[in-house]
Amino acid sequence: MKKENISPSCFLFSVLFLFMCFSLESHVCFAVDTISSDQSLSGNQTVVSSGGVFELGFFRPGNSSNYYIGMWYRKVSQLSIVWVANREKPVHDINSSVLKISDGNLVLSNGSRVPIWSTYVSSGSVISNSAVAVLLDDGNLVLRDGLNSSTILWQSFDHPADTWLPGSKLRFDKRTNQSQSIISWKSLDDPAPGLFSFEIDPFQTNQIVTVWNRSQTYWFSGTWDQQTMSFSLVPEMRMVALSSLAFNFSYVSEENESYFIYYYYNSSTIAKYFMDSSGQMKEMTWLENIKQWTVFYSQPRQQCEVYGFCGAFGSCNENQPFCNCLNGFQPTSPQNWDQEVYSGGCARKTKLGCDNHSVGTGKGDQFLESRYTNLPTNPQNTMAVTSMECKATCIQNCSCTAYAFENNQCSIWIGDLFNLKQLEQDDITGKLLYIKLAASEIDSESSPTNKRRVIVIPIAVSTGLLLLGLMMFIIMKRRRTIISPKSAKGSLVAFEYRDLEKATKNFSEKLGKGGFGFVFKGTLPDGSIIAVKKLESINQGEKQFRTEVSIIGKINHVNLVRLRGFCSEGSRKLLVYDYVSKGSLDRHLFHGLASEPLDWKTRYQISLGVARGLAYLHENCVDSIIHCDIKPENILLDVDNFPKLADFGLAKLLGREFSRVLTTMRGTVGYLAPEWISGVAITPKADVYSYGMMLLELVSGMRNFEPANDKEGTFFPVWAARQVSEGVNVLNLLDDRLHGNVDLEEVCRICKVACWCIQENEIQRPSMGQVVQILEGFFDVSIPPMPRFLQEIGNDRSTYISSPT
Ligand SMILES: *[C@@H]1O[C@H](CO)[C@@H](O)[C@H](O)[C@H]1NC(C)=O
Ligand SMILES: *[C@@H]1O[C@H](CO)[C@@H](O)[C@H](O)[C@H]1NC(C)=O
Ligand SMILES: *[C@@H]1O[C@H](CO)[C@@H](O)[C@H](O)[C@H]1NC(C)=O
Ligand SMILES: *[C@@H]1O[C@H](CO)[C@@H](O)[C@H](O)[C@H]1NC(C)=O
Ligand SMILES: *[C@@H]1O[C@H](CO)[C@@H](O)[C@H](O)[C@H]1NC(C)=O
Ligand SMILES: *[C@@H]1O[C@H](CO)[C@@H](O)[C@H](O)[C@H]1NC(C)=O
Ligand SMILES: *[C@@H]1O[C@H](CO)[C@@H](O)[C@H](O)[C@H]1NC(C)=O
Ligand SMILES: *[C@@H]1O[C@H](CO)[C@@H](O)[C@H](O)[C@H]1NC(C)=O
Ligand SMILES: *[C@@H]1O[C@H](CO)[C@@H](O)[C@H](O)[C@H]1NC(C)=O
Ligand SMILES: *[C@@H]1O[C@H](CO)[C@@H](O)[C@H](O)[C@H]1NC(C)=O
Ligand SMILES: *[C@@H]1O[C@H](CO)[C@@H](O)[C@H](O)[C@H]1NC(C)=O
Ligand SMILES: *[C@@H]1O[C@H](CO)[C@@H](O)[C@H](O)[C@H]1NC(C)=O
Repeated sequence: MKKENISPSCFLFSVLFLFMCFSLESHVCFAVDTISSDQSLSGNQTVVSSGGVFELGFFRPGNSSNYYIGMWYRKVSQLSIVWVANREKPVHDINSSVLKISDGNLVLSNGSRVPIWSTYVSSGSVISNSAVAVLLDDGNLVLRDGLNSSTILWQSFDHPADTWLPGSKLRFDKRTNQSQSIISWKSLDDPAPGLFSFEIDPFQTNQIVTVWNRSQTYWFSGTWDQQTMSFSLVPEMRMVALSSLAFNFSYVSEENESYFIYYYYNSSTIAKYFMDSSGQMKEMTWLENIKQWTVFYSQPRQQCEVYGFCGAFGSCNENQPFCNCLNGFQPTSPQNWDQEVYSGGCARKTKLGCDNHSVGTGKGDQFLESRYTNLPTNPQNTMAVTSMECKATCIQNCSCTAYAFENNQCSIWIGDLFNLKQLEQDDITGKLLYIKLAASEIDSESSPTNKRRVIVIPIAVSTGLLLLGLMMFIIMKRRRTIISPKSAKGSLVAFEYRDLEKATKNFSEKLGKGGFGFVFKGTLPDGSIIAVKKLESINQGEKQFRTEVSIIGKINHVNLVRLRGFCSEGSRKLLVYDYVSKGSLDRHLFHGLASEPLDWKTRYQISLGVARGLAYLHENCVDSIIHCDIKPENILLDVDNFPKLADFGLAKLLGREFSRVLTTMRGTVGYLAPEWISGVAITPKADVYSYGMMLLELVSGMRNFEPANDKEGTFFPVWAARQVSEGVNVLNLLDDRLHGNVDLEEVCRICKVACWCIQENEIQRPSMGQVVQILEGFFDVSIPPMPRFLQEIGNDRSTYISSPT
């Protein structure tokens, strides 16, 4: 690391090194990892750690015109800043700005020699003349005594920016009761400390928390368990072991400090924890083969769970744009909102009368009634017992901004309103909130635009069918398409019943029967082949039916069967899909049905395709769509055995009826997650469970719940999970028709994934996005534990399979 004298070979090395750097990018390197007292860094010069891992120099973030001293991964082709020195005070001219050792400190000064940033180590000590700054390969910039390298005066690991690097401590100082915070950037263009941070819980429970504005905690990791190597509320950490992401994460408690620290076992792994400016703490890995950062997980998982994400008087939803201002309010900084930085929140368009002393207390202020999924945080309860009294309480207090009266309980809010979540379209179940606005705002809110909404609703209710019928008529006369408002691509055809009758030759060619009706093959006049599903037992209103159908129609993914159109004439409800030539997977997979068994490569491609389709439904759709009925019957294969998922969106389309049919349908039950039976809320993780069950069938080529597939008298999934969790040869699980012609690594991977997917506790199951990454081979998974639930029902399978309630 230190070069005492220049030998010829060393000189050659330096020249070579310089040459390499020139050919790399715009940054010219210093060719050394050290800034000593006679050197300085400016312009496009940089310092590189001895192993070439990290580089330090000036950089310009995003579209900003400001420059900062930062540190980045040298080997990562996309500039990825892990540390910034002068976060709050940029410089503007890098050619005249200088970073150098001055009076024992590392100091950045601008063109006028004004110090902008410094390590602020008390100066004047004996070693101040010999101090040197060294950039180490773990990303630590160390200021130390040049004569005695074990005397460390300052290190960047003690002053992190938004990134917690492997090998650095996330500390709690027991002497000052202070936690060290990892603080987000304000925005992609501005590395100044933002509102979000994470730190060790200052109450000394061994967990990590995320914090808004240094004061409000909004997510807890749960306590650390060294045994299972995971936080109690982040059990997916357990799954990520071995290969690239395997780490040694530990909690250490000493006399003066406690800290978390982690290392990746594979030192070539480029990965980090950081606090995103969205308020989510993320673990990201650089995948060199695709030259991209991949988020392995983010916490909290939902954007709207981030405290204050939309700022004061903003409301949040899970779709872009994530935030809107409440009625009567506007963004405090429209530029920031355009850049998706919402935390500045919203301000009143018109001052309250109460704040205008010439008007007098409360005069001229009124309340706007609004519905949200929740009420704002930090309510204050009052003694008021009627709605009128509640309102009066709020009117009388000038700082009161809103009230709610629910279950005879009056709550008022003082000051800014935070964390409101918007209702989904058409949802009328939300909570009522009365927001105080200047009278002129109420007038404008309830004039033109708002009045229309008020009027349309009663009309829609009373004469909705008539209007819709009329609209249908007009639309069908015109072009027979309903044009979805946003995407022209997703336009659906509204078919007439008799056209479909003709196309399907009076519903003569049956393709199959699901729980929700028969499917028929048909041919349209233009020659294209379609599959027509006649829905039974639909109890959805006309309007909602159309809303849901148009949502399904907009979904477009190669692993999903495309919806082309629909027919809705009274009780006749039909869906028209692209025809997928080879039919459903069960016909090609299971013993006795398939003439020719699917080879291993095809099975693996099917599992990956289905995972991609599901991940798309869960993670990329406007509203996350839970399929609810994953099973081989709903996986269709095209001519190249490429899988396409059918029947997605039906769960919402059919409403309550769906789950009733689902849980009483014999064939489906073996795929249903335990939460279907226990009656708790269904999340996308229910699909993950069904998917896991299906993976086991892909491996074995037999139905899980067929007695013929029992092994040693045990329910197959139980037996399979035991083999996997005990690390027995997974080839035992394999379909014998494959004669062992498989990729052993892929079989292992699928079996482990399947077993993680069927864990009883849904939080332990991976997300579909993670499943895709694992099956693609980017991440490895550890040996899953035995799913407890299965073990229990394994002995009493008959009750589970045939009589759910
Ligand atoms: C970097 O600095 C060197 C020396 O001042 C100069 O020759 C070179 O053009 C600079 N490169 C860029 C991209 O500014
Ligand atoms: C920079 O500006 C371009 C064009 O205005 C925009 O597309 C891009 O998203 C901006 N990048 C950042 C990081 O703000
Ligand atoms: C710094 O100097 C280089 C050439 O020496 C020049 O190309 C570059 O534009 C200058 N940068 C700034 C920010 O003035
Ligand atoms: C250096 O910083 C000082 C104080 O912030 C400022 O007044 C001065 O204009 C800056 N000089 C340059 C060249 O940017
Ligand atoms: C270097 O400093 C350490 C403590 O900071 C001390 O223990 C050691 O004796 C010093 N070594 C020399 C050669 O001065
Ligand atoms: C730190 O907190 C502990 C317990 O909460 C308390 O006993 C101690 O006095 C505090 N120390 C300081 C310096 O505030
Ligand atoms: C954050 O807290 C500080 C005081 O601790 C306060 O002045 C500031 O307004 C807060 N920021 C927001 C966005 O509420
Ligand atoms: C993990 O890290 C801790 C603390 O640094 C250390 O004590 C332990 O030996 C490490 N374990 C392994 C398996 O490397
Ligand atoms: C803790 O701090 C005290 C006082 O600052 C010091 O004497 C002691 O050596 C420290 N303990 C450790 C383990 O560093
Ligand atoms: C470490 O990671 C690199 C790159 O991800 C990989 O090529 C290498 O095989 C890994 N080494 C081990 C021992 O797993
Ligand atoms: C205060 O009230 C008076 C009288 O209604 C009005 O003319 C004035 O514009 C108001 N001022 C503000 C700042 O709203
Ligand atoms: C308004 O209510 C808050 C909370 O109840 C109270 O602290 C404050 O003093 C009240 N202000 C007035 C003017 O009554």
